[in-house]
Amino acid sequence: MTADRVTAERRAAQKHQRACIIWLTGLSGAGKSTIANALEAALVEREKHTYLLDGDQLRDSLNADLGFDLPSRDENVRRVAQVAKQFVEAGLIALVALISPLRRQRDFARSLVTAHEFVEVHLSTPLAECERRDPKGLYKRARAGLIKEFTGIDSPYEAPQSAEITIDTTGTTSDECVAKILSYLAAGRY
Ligand code: ADX
Repeated sequence: MTADRVTAERRAAQKHQRACIIWLTGLSGAGKSTIANALEAALVEREKHTYLLDGDQLRDSLNADLGFDLPSRDENVRRVAQVAKQFVEAGLIALVALISPLRRQRDFARSLVTAHEFVEVHLSTPLAECERRDPKGLYKRARAGLIKEFTGIDSPYEAPQSAEITIDTTGTTSDECVAKILSYLAAGRY
């Protein structure tokens, strides 16, 4: 009976794609959610099967019990990484949009899948630009001391050293960012 079990490869082949995790990391306001949503739309347009795990949304559901101290962020990233791995086993392209500020957190996520199944995208938009955008007014509140342990202000962000793709979204349109990621994926036949 177990000999006939459906494998991860079979599930991906059925969907005519290579499953992977596209992991977007960067400061709050760097453009992670915007680009992840636009990328997912572009992939679906190309008949790919995807699922987007967005940090902001998951903090209202799966991770509603977690705060922003570093152990809580470790746990936040750990959970999302494990869920993303399940999606890879389901044959899907899992998009993850998470600050995931520490290298050890992203390395953990990478360790869960094989080398070609993890595509780290660093949105390297500088702090000054993220703070200028301040879409949710959080930087302003953090500077005023109303929010503690805010990434980039009084909580660390360790930039990746060997991300597969690095994009500074300052002066780059979301379409241009998506095109860059799509061309990487096309070259790898995902
Ligand atoms: S992570 O560091 O644990 O990966 P995650 O991506 O889930 O963070 O959540 C980040 C989002 O939470 C930010 O975009 C912002 O809207 C909100 N947020 C609230 N408090 C903080 C904080 N102290 N540091 C960073 N982001 C915060």
